[in-house]
Amino acid sequence: MFVSTKKLLLKAQREKYAVPHFNINNLEIMQGVVQAAVKLNSPIILATSEGAINYAGINFLHCLAETASELTSVPIAFHLDHGQDLNMIRRAIALGYSSVMIDASHDSFETNIKKTKQIVQLAHRKHISVEAELGTIGGAEDLVSSRTILYTDPAKAKEFVERTGCDFLAVAIGTSHGAYKFAGKAVLKQDILKQLRKKVNIPLVLHGASGVPSSLVKMAEHYGASLSGVEGVPDAQIRAAIAHGITKINTDTDLRLAFDAAVRKVIKRSPRDFDPRHILGPARELIQSVAEQRIRLFGSVNKA
Ligand code: G3H
Ligand code: 13P
Ligand code: ZN
Repeated sequence: MFVSTKKLLLKAQREKYAVPHFNINNLEIMQGVVQAAVKLNSPIILATSEGAINYAGINFLHCLAETASELTSVPIAFHLDHGQDLNMIRRAIALGYSSVMIDASHDSFETNIKKTKQIVQLAHRKHISVEAELGTIGGAEDLVSSRTILYTDPAKAKEFVERTGCDFLAVAIGTSHGAYKFAGKAVLKQDILKQLRKKVNIPLVLHGASGVPSSLVKMAEHYGASLSGVEGVPDAQIRAAIAHGITKINTDTDLRLAFDAAVRKVIKRSPRDFDPRHILGPARELIQSVAEQRIRLFGSVNKA
């Protein structure tokens, strides 16, 4: 049984840590992050983007997450990340996701409110909570792309939350999706976050928060990747964001980097080995260790 995302986040808000949200696309990624949560006794949110669903199928991903939630002792919530397609959001609600995100952040303020309100009505009928986004988080991924970052306006955020009734809010304070987050120095707008926290009482979410650890980048490059110019969010800025009120942190890129580095290593070192278990097993292990580092950074150890 999945747990309520909202319950996990309200507890985190009271106790001042952040719940890890990990994007999953397949069995090995899911198992890696769940094993990390179990080892460290942390709650965890398993999230599927529309891209993940298009790749693996919503029923397969749902089954994987549901099996994990039945076999493990730690609380697992299941979340739709960056929902933009109304049909996809409806399917997630019907399947019993713990929460859905409606991402209408690229629309006008009024359209964003209208779309978010509609999803809140649908989801709340089934006791499913809703994450919305205001401002734009930069970066470019499959279905989530934006060139410029518009920081979230604290006064508008207050109005947005009051008018939509959303349960958590993704805020734009300088992070961006993917591995190329900052052209120069990595800076998050902690002052904006502090003002947001004063104006808005619901849990706040940080997207585009991967750290892009240099050890993973070096490993991937050693085995053939070309990753010049990558830059993540430094740990110190994540800690500050948690201190200033972030209670859900999304990580996808770091898992992808771990997967990539580990797969490249086996293929390069063992060119005669074509057993998928030998190729994907080390990726699962490296994902687990990256997820453990994230859980420690977020302060959710022993919060299960
Ligand atoms: O925030 C976006 C996530 O990293 C998902 O990316 O749409 O490529 O699956 P994706
Ligand atoms: P990263 O690309 O920084 O891992 O962010 C992932 C994310 O925000 C998923 O919603
Ligand atoms: Zn995101």
